[in-house]
Amino acid sequence: MNTLVDNLRKDFADLFQQAPVIVRSPGRVNIIGEHTDYNEGFVLPAAIDKAAYMAMSLREDDEIHLRALDLNESFFLKLADLKPVEAIRWPNYILGSAAQFVKRGVKVPGFNAILTSDVPIGAGLSSSAAVECATVFALNELLHTQLDRLTMVQMAQKAEHEFAGVMCGIMDQFASMMGKKDHVIKLDCRSLEFEYIPFRLEGIKVLLLNTNVKHSLATSEYNTRRRECETAVKWVNTSVPTVKSLRDVTENMLDQYVMPKDKLIDRRSRYVVREVERLLAGCEDLKLGNLQALGRKMFATHDGLSKMYGVSCKELDWLVDRMRNNRSVIGARMMGGGFGGCTINLVKEKAIDELVASLKPAYEKQMNLPLTYYIASIENGTEIIQ
Ligand code: GLA
Repeated sequence: MNTLVDNLRKDFADLFQQAPVIVRSPGRVNIIGEHTDYNEGFVLPAAIDKAAYMAMSLREDDEIHLRALDLNESFFLKLADLKPVEAIRWPNYILGSAAQFVKRGVKVPGFNAILTSDVPIGAGLSSSAAVECATVFALNELLHTQLDRLTMVQMAQKAEHEFAGVMCGIMDQFASMMGKKDHVIKLDCRSLEFEYIPFRLEGIKVLLLNTNVKHSLATSEYNTRRRECETAVKWVNTSVPTVKSLRDVTENMLDQYVMPKDKLIDRRSRYVVREVERLLAGCEDLKLGNLQALGRKMFATHDGLSKMYGVSCKELDWLVDRMRNNRSVIGARMMGGGFGGCTINLVKEKAIDELVASLKPAYEKQMNLPLTYYIASIENGTEIIQ
């Protein structure tokens, strides 16, 4: 981390001759509860040690000067032209976040920002939410807007909707902004009430295996899944008007109102209904220290995501299958939006080296892609770095 921040400081001084505010905003993992956030269910994410770092200072001339250190790219825009850019992606996360301040009627006088990050891009670890949260947090500090964290989470989520075109739920931005060291967050995505649950597992680590499949389908298919869920809710709601989201739906209702109409929509929504229940039971497992039970649920989540929700891919399935019936592996599943990215695995620490050593060549031979891995530690959410 220090090298990243040192480089950031140095680059900022060279380019802008100013001392910036520096914000660290982490990526996230999610233990269980996938594709439940936009259905007003629960999620169980945590912020990790991999993070985006943003250095920022204000300008007086209504101009935005951006630089992505890792890509060695710069970008410039006049505030009056603030809208999503087509040709490159990364400025949109920053511009979209700045636009939220403008929308709230805050006078943004222009700013300089340099970004660096060690959250792998396209790995399902929310590299974009990390940048959005870092931007909102930095601007809040510099503009003295005194926004509370929840408001900033919602602004960062809007940035993703409006400038990146992904109609994401609230999980990623919430986890990045609200993370707490050695705790997972049980978040009710309807009321936004949340609870920190201790997550310090004796002798067990969170191992992320990156398929290195870039999830090119992710945006379009993600938005399609959202619409499929909304369709199911609409059909149930016609007969049961109190139903407002899949959170309110039971399998019984699906049998009656969805299954007869459309098998695909039924499969999609049945996965979500089961996943909401699975998460609630999984939280109890965690509190009771019954990790084996939680691990079995993670495998069940994977099967649901793969066979019912249709967001996995052969590389993710292959990695999870290799973990089944391995006594050193407590649980494994694909994580995040899907179509590539990482699997999350709870693995006995002592077994990790050997596991990766045998998995890596087999995966690379079979898939013709590199297999990379990270051991994630659970850290605090968005913060200013001195
Ligand atoms: C992406 C979205 C989240 C969530 C997950 C799936 O990460 O940004 O809001 O929906 O997919 O659980």
